[in-house]
Amino acid sequence: MNLKILLLPGDGIGAEVTSAAVEVLNATAKKFGHTVEYTEGLIGGIAIHKTGKPLPEDTMQKALAADATLMGAVGLPEFDSTPPSQRPERGLLDLRAGLEVFANLRPVKAWPSLIESSPLKNHLVEGVDLLIVRELTGGLYFGTPRFLDGDRAVNTMTYTRREIERVARKAFGFARQRRWKLTSVDKPNVLECSQLWRKVVTEIGKEYPDVELDHMLVDTCAMQIVLNPKRFAVILTENMFGDILSDEGAVLAGSIGMLPSASLGDKKGLYEPVHGSAPDIAGQNKANPLGAIGSVAAMFEYSFGLIKEAAAINTAIGRVLEAGRVTADLKPKGNPLTTDQVGKAVSEAL
Ligand code: IPM
Ligand code: MG
Repeated sequence: MNLKILLLPGDGIGAEVTSAAVEVLNATAKKFGHTVEYTEGLIGGIAIHKTGKPLPEDTMQKALAADATLMGAVGLPEFDSTPPSQRPERGLLDLRAGLEVFANLRPVKAWPSLIESSPLKNHLVEGVDLLIVRELTGGLYFGTPRFLDGDRAVNTMTYTRREIERVARKAFGFARQRRWKLTSVDKPNVLECSQLWRKVVTEIGKEYPDVELDHMLVDTCAMQIVLNPKRFAVILTENMFGDILSDEGAVLAGSIGMLPSASLGDKKGLYEPVHGSAPDIAGQNKANPLGAIGSVAAMFEYSFGLIKEAAAINTAIGRVLEAGRVTADLKPKGNPLTTDQVGKAVSEAL
């Protein structure tokens, strides 16, 4: 198969983790007899510096032309007091919207060899394997009106039936591969958006009678994720709740550097690690690339339907973890590896 992939390294550690991920992508393609055609583009702070815009038109065109996009991270501290519309992050939001990737998959897996890296008690974390399906192109992130006007600021949470239906169908589909259990997370005791959310998810649930559906308030969910994470198989939730709960999920995995993500729509796929640009460690070749590498596995699986390739990468990640050949954020056996050494280690383990 010929894979057309756009690389968007972005800011901070984005470039480092992306290059380690590309190493693994190339090794996987070679092993399984695929060819890869890369294009590269600008996004985030670096794009603002070079073009004045966080998502140049050229990048959007390349993303639409590619089969899949692999992104690093966006965000630079120098934009901390810049309004949201001109920040690096806006580039990512516009890319998600432009590609119409409305379903963001964030799997959280407690790898046996990382149990000690989680601050939670072992018996709580052992065996955790859940999937957060976060709605990605609606809600507070995109609702209008939105403005900051002197001493008053407004954001708008908005959802339509169609937006809820399409992400719910994806989540129910994944629940069929994950213990036939789906927890929809919302806040209908306070929010009208959540009232609609619960109604629509319940209706869509009737199309999937084999999947057991329950509903949970987001505050309760925040507590249950650390109290009893094994009760969850698939969590379906709106954009902002999913952003927050997925960082909390990182605690189960031992390091936010471990978490991959896949953003899917009806056509394109966007793949990025859950972590940010980590400017404090950028350029030091010590960021954990396993989230980015796991995102490559997700790309093989979801954009190309290449399940064996995806499984091979995930098995290789497991081996590298087992051998303790990891960066300093985990518990290395011996000296911590650098970002590119981890990329090489995973490629070798393939
Ligand atoms: C994430 C990030 C982004 C988000 C930021 C960088 C815009 O936190 O992917 O979780 O809020 O969606
Ligand atoms: Mg986030």
